Amino acid sequence: MAGTGKTEMAGGQMIPRHIAIIMDGNGRWAQKRGMPRTAGHGVGAENFRKIATYCKDLGMDYLTVYAFSTENWKRSRDEVGAIMGLLKKYLLESIEKMERDRIRLKIIGDTSVLDPELQALIQKTDAIAASLPGCFQANVCVNYGGRDEIARAAERFRLAHPGQPITQDGLNECMDMAGIPDPELIIRTGGEYRVSNFLLWEGAYSEFYFTDVLWPDFSEKEIDRAIESFRHRDRRFGGVKS
Ligand code: FPP
Repeated sequence: MAGTGKTEMAGGQMIPRHIAIIMDGNGRWAQKRGMPRTAGHGVGAENFRKIATYCKDLGMDYLTVYAFSTENWKRSRDEVGAIMGLLKKYLLESIEKMERDRIRLKIIGDTSVLDPELQALIQKTDAIAASLPGCFQANVCVNYGGRDEIARAAERFRLAHPGQPITQDGLNECMDMAGIPDPELIIRTGGEYRVSNFLLWEGAYSEFYFTDVLWPDFSEKEIDRAIESFRHRDRRFGGVKS
């Protein structure tokens, strides 16, 4: 809720401070090429690196991506294992390169049920990220669901403020995304038009951009297109034009 939806001037252009992406279409991208779905996730993870760097270079402050939802455990063991393996690889690389690349990594979601090795790597990346205030931040949502985030925030609030009435501001401070401005723009690739339990709280007034492009094919040019579309939106936040 922290964001008012204002855009910042970056490189002389209006750029959202925070973009979020539902990276859909990895499986179809691979299947179209006769490859296993897991190969699509591998190319998708590479693409995430490229797009994160581009967003940083454009002058954005935050990029948030949906890597693994609370519902994705229903997928095959192979597929879940492959995505977790890619996350491990990315965490290890971040530990090595976060300082050099100036990209703070933050894992968002209920990490308490993840493999202990992954949890230890997340702790390490958190410590490095804490030493890089002000740098561009990539939020990777893992075992994340918008409803789950809200429920866990309510429980945190209850424990921290016993007997106190729940307020929007109070709950906001207990969300996984606390302190991060709301995304002005949420992009979904892969041709589906739904929110799939992503950023239900933070996306209350986000603009949406949908594209048929499958995530592994989503290029820097596609980000430019999404931002161009965003620039023409009339954001009223429930008010009327003055
Ligand atoms: C949605 O496509 C994609 C996912 C559920 C997983 C996304 C994961 C990655 C890109 C890899 C890990 C990420 C990082 C940042 C290291 P889908 O599988 O639902 O595709 P489909 O709709 O074509 O089946």
